[in-house]
Amino acid sequence: MSKLWGGRFSKDTDKLVEDFHSSISFDQKLYQWDIKGSIAHARMLGNVGVITKDEAEQIIDGLTEILIEIEAGKVVFDPSSEDIHMNIEVLLTNKIGAVGKKLHTGRSRNDQVAVDTRMYLRAEIETIHHLLLDLITTLINLAETHKETIMPGYTHLQRAQPVSFAHHLLAYVEMFKRDCTRLEDTRIRMNVLPLGSGALAGTTFPLDRQQVAKELDFDSVCLNSMDGVSDRDFILEFMADASISLMHLSRLCEEIILWSSQEFHFIDLDDAYSTGSSIMPQKKNPDVAELMRGKTGRVYGNLMAMLTVMKGIPLAYNKDMQEDKEGLFDTVETWQKCLLVMTPMLKTVTVRQEAMLQAARGGFTNATDLADYLVRKNIPFRDAHSIVGRLVAYCLDEGKNLDDLTLIEFKTFSPLIENDIYQAIAVETCMANRNTIGGPSIAQVEATISADRQFLAQRQ
Ligand code: ARG
Repeated sequence: MSKLWGGRFSKDTDKLVEDFHSSISFDQKLYQWDIKGSIAHARMLGNVGVITKDEAEQIIDGLTEILIEIEAGKVVFDPSSEDIHMNIEVLLTNKIGAVGKKLHTGRSRNDQVAVDTRMYLRAEIETIHHLLLDLITTLINLAETHKETIMPGYTHLQRAQPVSFAHHLLAYVEMFKRDCTRLEDTRIRMNVLPLGSGALAGTTFPLDRQQVAKELDFDSVCLNSMDGVSDRDFILEFMADASISLMHLSRLCEEIILWSSQEFHFIDLDDAYSTGSSIMPQKKNPDVAELMRGKTGRVYGNLMAMLTVMKGIPLAYNKDMQEDKEGLFDTVETWQKCLLVMTPMLKTVTVRQEAMLQAARGGFTNATDLADYLVRKNIPFRDAHSIVGRLVAYCLDEGKNLDDLTLIEFKTFSPLIENDIYQAIAVETCMANRNTIGGPSIAQVEATISADRQFLAQRQ
């Protein structure tokens, strides 16, 4: 079939080249946005008198029918029509005749693909934003029930100081809140209309770009036509947002994997969110969390690929940019799927509070509190640190915890230690005393939860 751009060519495209540069196999995902963009463009062309209102109506009706037909699965796209834009234009002309050929007046596929991709991503961002809010809600609800569930906090994966499970979960809430606001920022910069940029230098027709922006829900129109057609920052920003969020999810996955091991055994995953082994009958594996940790790699890869695609492109549009789509679609789908599965996996988790408490009681997580006790008796912190260090070494030799020592034993290290020491270094006290803003005490955790609920309420 002859190409829409075939006029200056005397030969058909080589078959391999046709396959090589055809994007319809993947950019058909943009069909509804392509049609919506074209409808707005046609209506505007009619309003400003570039085409007649009647012609605009015919085009709009034709496009609306095509949308319905595609949605009903009645359309088979033609790879020789290269991409979604030309496929739809061909469908339109076949349907309504010569008037269809007027649609592309004052427009190029370069500004068309830019507007389609922005509208597509805007809708997907909204979905992801909701999924992030669902995940945050689930984490907060879980935190609410575990304000008093004491566990060891770790540094270097060595037991450090006691925290609550709630406090640990709320660290992830902070991360996912940042992911939300990052997406909100990305959306603001993205929601600028490129249509009207033409191929690169605008158009000789008196387009009403503001009207198109309004119809398509853009906040403003781009102020440079060359940038309008060649800017893919919004894709890069989104991919960076996704990479950071997947990094957060991956860290959470890593903890879920550790916690559900027999070595930690802090949690049990629901059977519906774990899988078995084909050979070892006893196995219950945290594959979901592992796979999510793995998928983080491809999302980073998509970002790197796109940064690399863009780095050497002279202004304005170049075909390299068609490479933006598969990585973008993959990133959108991967991020959504990960969020969709993480939320119910957390909702159904069984928390083994006793195991967490036992772990918090072992491993000298109260050693800092013992040092702080001595500081309150006016021993300089550095000296207190050293006394407790020696006490820990003694305990390790004796196979005891600090709490197991008798007062006589304590006193051989510091005569200032009194009977109140046992209360002072109980893990419950250690946690309760960490009452600085953002700390793990129940009061602070409650304050954080109420701030987090406000964050959610502002976004409902
Ligand atoms: N399929 C193309 C893309 O995704 C559309 C723009 C094509 N423009 C061009 N001048 N060949 O980038």
